[in-house]
Parts: sequence; C-alpha cells; structure tokens
Amino acid sequence: MPDSSSIPIKARISLTGGSDFWHSTAVPVADLPAVMLTDGPHGVRKQAGATDHVGLNESVPATCFPPAVGLASTWNPALVEEVGRALGTESSALGVGVLLGPGANIKRSPLCGRNFEYFSEDPHLTGQLASAYVRGVQSRGVGTSLKHFAANNQETDRMRRSSNVDERTLREVYLRGFGTVVRTAQPWTVMCSYNRINGVLASQNRWLLTEVLREEWNFQGLVVSDWGAVRDRVAALNAGLDLEMPANPAHEDAVARALAEGAIDEDTIDRAYRRVEAVLRRAHETVKDADGRFDVDAHHTLARRAAEQAIVLLSNDGVLPLNPSGLSDASSVAVIGEFARTPRYQGAGSSRVNPTRLDNALDAIVGALGHDVPFAPGFTTDPRNPAPEGAHDEAVEVARGAGLILMFLGLGENHESEGYDRTTLDLPAEQLALLDDVLAVNPNVVVVLSNGSSVLLPFTHRVRAVVEGWLLGQAGGAAIADVLFGVVNPSGRIAETIPHRLEDCPSYLNFPGDSTGVLYGEGLFVGYRGYDAARIEVAHPFGHGLSYTTFEYDDLAVTMSGEGLSVEVSVTNTGDRAGREVVQAYVSIAASSVVRVPRELKGFGDVTLEPGASARVTITIPTAELAYWSVRDQRWVVERGSYTVAVGASSRDLRLSATIDVEGDEPARPVTLDTTIGEAMAVPGFGERLMARMAATMGGGPGDVDPDMARMMADVPLAAAIGFSGMDPDEFQAAIDQANAARGL
Ligand code: BGC
Repeated sequence: MPDSSSIPIKARISLTGGSDFWHSTAVPVADLPAVMLTDGPHGVRKQAGATDHVGLNESVPATCFPPAVGLASTWNPALVEEVGRALGTESSALGVGVLLGPGANIKRSPLCGRNFEYFSEDPHLTGQLASAYVRGVQSRGVGTSLKHFAANNQETDRMRRSSNVDERTLREVYLRGFGTVVRTAQPWTVMCSYNRINGVLASQNRWLLTEVLREEWNFQGLVVSDWGAVRDRVAALNAGLDLEMPANPAHEDAVARALAEGAIDEDTIDRAYRRVEAVLRRAHETVKDADGRFDVDAHHTLARRAAEQAIVLLSNDGVLPLNPSGLSDASSVAVIGEFARTPRYQGAGSSRVNPTRLDNALDAIVGALGHDVPFAPGFTTDPRNPAPEGAHDEAVEVARGAGLILMFLGLGENHESEGYDRTTLDLPAEQLALLDDVLAVNPNVVVVLSNGSSVLLPFTHRVRAVVEGWLLGQAGGAAIADVLFGVVNPSGRIAETIPHRLEDCPSYLNFPGDSTGVLYGEGLFVGYRGYDAARIEVAHPFGHGLSYTTFEYDDLAVTMSGEGLSVEVSVTNTGDRAGREVVQAYVSIAASSVVRVPRELKGFGDVTLEPGASARVTITIPTAELAYWSVRDQRWVVERGSYTVAVGASSRDLRLSATIDVEGDEPARPVTLDTTIGEAMAVPGFGERLMARMAATMGGGPGDVDPDMARMMADVPLAAAIGFSGMDPDEFQAAIDQANAARGL
C-alpha cells in the first residue's frame, strides 16, 4: 500500500466522495479501483441499469430474506448470522463490496414507515441481532454498513428534522444497540443518518461520529453518509465523516479551497483517505473475481427457514394447527384476501430486492391440501389497481359456503414505506369491513397478517386465531402454510408491543414533531418500558408469541460469576409436540437514585425440546449491561443494590424471579456545597458530624433531630443549610474538605 502522502492531494480528496450512485472513486495512482456499495439489508439490490435509492428501478435477482421485522421475531442470533453469511456470499458473488445494512434504529413509534427495516423497540435485542447480521455478512469478506446513525426514528421530514433527546435516553435507548454492534462486531462502515440530533446534523456531528463512535467505542472502519446527507463536506470531514455518497460535485472543490484557507487540515483529509482506502482494498480483494454465481436453491431454503421462525402465533383457540386430512373436500377451507395470492413480503424504498423466486401462500396451501380451494381476493392491495366490482360480495359468498376461512389481511406497499410515516395503526377500512361481513356469515376465521410494523387487532376475540406474518421475504408463502398445517411449530416472538390504541403509545404526543424538531418527550419510556411504567393494557406485550405446545419453567438460579450474572432455568416441554421456546430475562432494580423503567430485557436464549423433555437454559448478563448512563458523572454506572431477574415467555408472562445483590461501581462523589443533606448523611464520618452540628445549632443533642424534620431537610443543599442554620461558613467548608480528603477525593 503506497504511503498516502505520495498521492496527489486532489486524488486523496476525491476518495472522500463517491464516483456515482453506488461506487467509490477509483484512484489509479494508488492502484485503487472503484468498489460498489449497495443496499441491503435483507437482500442484495444491485442495479445494473438506471440507479435510484427509492426502490424504483430494477436490480439483478438476489434472494429476498425476511426484512429485519421478520428476522427480529425469530429472537435467534445464530439464524440471523446464517442469513448474514448467505447475504455476504451473494454480495461477493455479485461484486458488491459493502452491503448497506443492518438498520439498528429503535422502533420509537409503530407509525414509523421504515420500522420493517429495523429490529425492535428494545436496544438489547437490536444489538444482539444486528451484531449477528454483521458477523455473518463480514465473514464472507465483504463489509456492512450499520445505519442510520443515529436517532433516525421516523421518516417524516427525515432529512431536516432534529431529534431532540436527552443524553441519558440517547445513550441507553437510541445508541445502545449501535454501541453493541460496533464493540462486538466491528462493521466495516457506519452510515450516518439524515436527521439532526439536538440541533446538529448527524453528518456534521463531531460528538457522535468521533467522540462516541471512535473514542468511546473504538470504531475502526469508515463513516459513510446516508445518500445525500452531507450538506457541507468540510464540516462533515472535520466532524469525523469519511465518505460522502453519492458525491455532490461541488464539494470536492470546497474541500480543496478549505484546505488552502486553513479551514481543514491535510491530516484530517489523510485520515479519511486512509480509512476509506483500507475498507475498499479489503472489499476489492473479495469481489475482484465475482462471477455472479451463488446457490439460489440453498438460499431460498434458508429464506424459508428464517421465515418459519419469524412467524408469530398471536392468538389461537385451538383451531391451529390444521389437519390436512380433515380438510379433504373442496368446501372445507376457503382462502380470502389478495395477500394470499400476491404476497407482501418486503418493505418499500431503497431496500427493495428483486427476488430469485417468490412463493405465495395460496399455492402452498393448495399444495399442502392436495386439492384446489375456493379463493376470493376480496380487496386490492394497491389502490392504483382497484379491486373489480363485486370483489367484496364475492368474498362474502365464498365465506358463507366454507368450513373454515383463512383470511389474509395486511398493509399494502403504499401504506408503509421508507420516506413517509403512517398516520394510523388501523388496517385499511375496506379490509376491516370485509372481515366484519365475513364474520357475519361464518365465524370460523383464521386471520393471517402481512405488515411491516404493528397494526391494531380489535377483532382478535372474534376470530379463531391470528397469525402475524410480518414481512417474510420470498419464501414466506410456503412458511405460512407450514405453520398453519403444523409442519412447523411456531416459535416467533414479537419484538415490538402491539397496542390497543395509537393513543396508548408512549411516543404518541411527541410524534412526529414539527419543523422545530421532534421531542423525545417519553424519555427512557420507549415501547414496553413505557406501557409497563404506566400500566397500560396492550393487545400483545413485547416478547409474546404462542406455540402448539406448552412449556414450564422451574428451578431458577441467579448467581454472580466472573462475567456477570448467570441466569439458569429449567424448561420442560409439557405438551405433545416438539417445539422451540424463547426464554427471556428481564432485570429491575429495587431502589435507585435515578429514574428507572420497571424492567428491561437483558438477555435471552432458546431451547428446542421434544414432548416431555426438559433442559437447562443459561443466559449470561454481563455486569456492564446493568449500568445506567450517569449524566452527573458522564459515565456508565452500575448502581449498588438488589436486582431482580425475572424469566419467562414474554415481558408480561414472567414465570419465575430471583433477586441478587450487586456491588456495583458507583464513583465516590466529593461533597460540595451542592450536595444535599440527604446525600451528605450517607458520607461516612461526615454525616454524623453534620447531624450533630445541626442539632447543636438548633439547641439539641445529636439524637434530637425530629425524623419529619430530617426528611424535610434531606433535599436541602449544603449551601442553603449553612444559611438556614447560622453555621460558620469557614468551619463548614473545612469539614467538607476534611471529609473529601479522608476519602482520597
Ligand atoms: C436510505 C439508506 C440507503 C441509501 C442508499 C437512503 O435513502 O436511507 O438506508 O442505504 O438510501 O440507497
């Protein structure tokens, strides 16, 4: 690798911007060819002809795996990593050096149009799954791009709006997943988001791109802009960005001018040049021999396996699984809903993949039964193509004559997309009206859903089962049939709460804000953290998902080991089918000096058991996971105290719990005049003296302070206490100094 100082400065600057929509700039003097970076995340979107980043033009065929909403519902990092490996293989085969994903933003509101591309409302689950994805893709010698960094939790006005978030919430909720991925999986690139954070564009945010990302998390790769996110390349490079995509042609001259004027250092340009160069050389090594070939069949099979685990059985009165032999005549089961024939299997926008093949549920159901079934589309999934006259009535007639109805409902592409948010959580009115009319003639309805983020389910108790199919990728149709017929026992769990009403969502009053910004007013209380704190009933809690079998939990043991908390529990399959159980561990602290949410997911694991079998599941929770971000100390702090670990099958189906004392790593804080009397009382040596002194001033002995009075005084800062008590300020300060010195502060 030639020393960068021998490369002309113009060439070095040129590498900080792309050459076209999807390529870096070649630097012939450095023998560095252009490399392709493209979307992502759930398939390779390699455009051979016209280019765009909103999903309009065609791309070459590639496997469309379930988008993040589906992958997340598997709660299975090993499976996500396997999908990642297949994605890496396809990227390298297709000559793509960096695949633009995963998206690790938090689902702050179910209205966000791009939730399908994000994993969860929870940062722990997000961090674990996104890390697995990165490890998988990068194991094949191509890079990933962890995006959209950061606090990009809505599409409305995404290129301008400021996400106004307090520091602790930003750290604990919105940055936490990103931090996990960077520290544990080192993505080759991180993509900064379009939005502002507390007033500063992410692309020009030095705190974010340099202090947090590099200095705290030790990020080694390059920072690329989201497409078009750079307003001022000089400011961006100075803040820690390395590569502008696609490049604004005027920006290269602007950097050269800024260099001449001293507004940017050559070192800063060189640093960006070297980071971009290092990533591109690695990627080029892999893709230089790309021959376009990968195992289409094997990847389709993997996409089907991933889809099978992504499906969540939300409710079931026992009607599922269906027994094909009991449905042998043509009128025994009918299928209603266009989604059965025309699947909605991925989201709209830049991530749209051109699949290698596409299963639909209708064909798969017919295949499983071995005979045709009555089918009526009932409605259209695309308002530009209205349903034919009479489609609604035809579906009701089909329902009238059937034994059981499999009804496929969901959101069409135009209902949720990158680029805009939803304004309602309702399913389209025509679908709800059709469901009502179908139920009026036949109550035997199983609903199967296709949607990229939660919808309201007011009909749950009027139907026999609800199967949440999210968006399942190209093999989702077959996977749905496998679950309906019990070939696969469902084990997916929702990674986002399904509320009863939009108004119940913790972010409701502050979403999506206005031109002055969007206030993250619910603070830490995002998703289940907020529903639990306010004790709001929900349709389905975070982590929920049923099985065709049942599991029992016994013998919980929580111990402290070198790595942190070791949580062990026995799980027994008490039903009559083999199945996979996802075991979730939530942690709370009994008493805290800071605001706390009721419980947080800190670990999870899974086990697959034959009927009657049991196994011990172990979940390790590193002590650092217990930390909160102390704004006062500007660091992560594990508070000393008694922690409760609850394990169970969802955030509201906690079967067993145990408490454990944790020593913590709280910093010793010096006493100052701003320290309250209550805080000072806890300082060894100082508290007793203070109490005695105050009692004396008030004319009594040390034991004479009235408890109510002590309580009233607890929040009074020492500065005010001196004034109230008439104590001598110098004597007081001397006592403070002495107390601090005694503690080595
Ligand atoms: C999206 C990114 C995407 C990029 C390139 C942007 O509009 O926000 O997620 O990777 O386009 O298509």
